[in-house]
Amino acid sequence: MVRNYTIAIANEKGGVAKTTTAVSMAGAFVEMGLQVLAVDLDPQSNLTLALGHKPDPEQVSIANVLLNSENISNTIVKTQIENLDLVPSNSKLGVAERFLPVRQNYDTILRNALGSFLNYDYIILDCPPALGAVTLNALTAANMLIIPTQTEYFSAYALKNMMSAIRQVRTQNNPSMVYRILVTMYDRRNRAHRTLLEQLNTTFGKDGLLQNIVEVDTKLRESPIIGIPIMHYVSKTRSAIQYRAVAEELIENVAELEQKTLA
Ligand SMILES: Nc1ncnc2c1ncn2[C@@H]1O[C@H](COP(=O)(O)OP(=O)(O)OP(=O)(O)O)[C@@H](O)[C@H]1O
Ligand SMILES: [Mg+2]
Repeated sequence: MVRNYTIAIANEKGGVAKTTTAVSMAGAFVEMGLQVLAVDLDPQSNLTLALGHKPDPEQVSIANVLLNSENISNTIVKTQIENLDLVPSNSKLGVAERFLPVRQNYDTILRNALGSFLNYDYIILDCPPALGAVTLNALTAANMLIIPTQTEYFSAYALKNMMSAIRQVRTQNNPSMVYRILVTMYDRRNRAHRTLLEQLNTTFGKDGLLQNIVEVDTKLRESPIIGIPIMHYVSKTRSAIQYRAVAEELIENVAELEQKTLA
């Protein structure tokens, strides 16, 4: 397997379970015996909090990596889960959207920072809810983009914008990036959800849409408070089982994609 396989989790729409997906995928990979680095790219620092760290503006963080050429190794901290490390964020990242674009080749800063000296199986990038300079850095660094989405009417608009961002990144700096849409917070009793899921399947098929989905699970609202992934908090809850299935599907997808590249 490729080392440091990098997965960006992004959607310009807010509150679609980006951070929840980042934490839960990380948890599922670690359970499988893999080594994972989770990178918080949002000044709200929800990922940092969800992995048990208090955001601290005095602490060296992803903001220093993006804005002051700090070596990313100096920013990595341990979490309560073995084999799951974190690059925290803090409020200092808030100025990145303004200061990054004035620099030359600013969109490749994260990709260069993640360089090959890191030694993880998966690197997971949790993006802010915007298609700005930080998300552009994440998409440029990523082997794969996961787009969590709800099966709600307005989500379709956000998906359209995500598709143009993918086209832009592929033409500029990252021609081989693949994407997968992940349906989250699904309610199977809701007819509109069922209809939209069918439409997504027709439009994107199995190469665009992950076939495993994540349904509503109120336990997911509790685990960030404890500071560990859902499967380490309540191993058998529905979302833990479903995120494990998503992680397995992803690993299969990655293996298939690699075979295609080698062929
Ligand atoms: N499957 C689910 N079932 C129930 N609640 C969920 C589920 N997934 C996420 N949530 C809840 O939805 C809210 C938004 O989730 P999350 O913070 O992961 O979204 P986000 O896309 O990262 O938001 P933002 O755009 O602000 O970064 C949180 O309160 C989270 O606990
Ligand atoms: Mg978030």
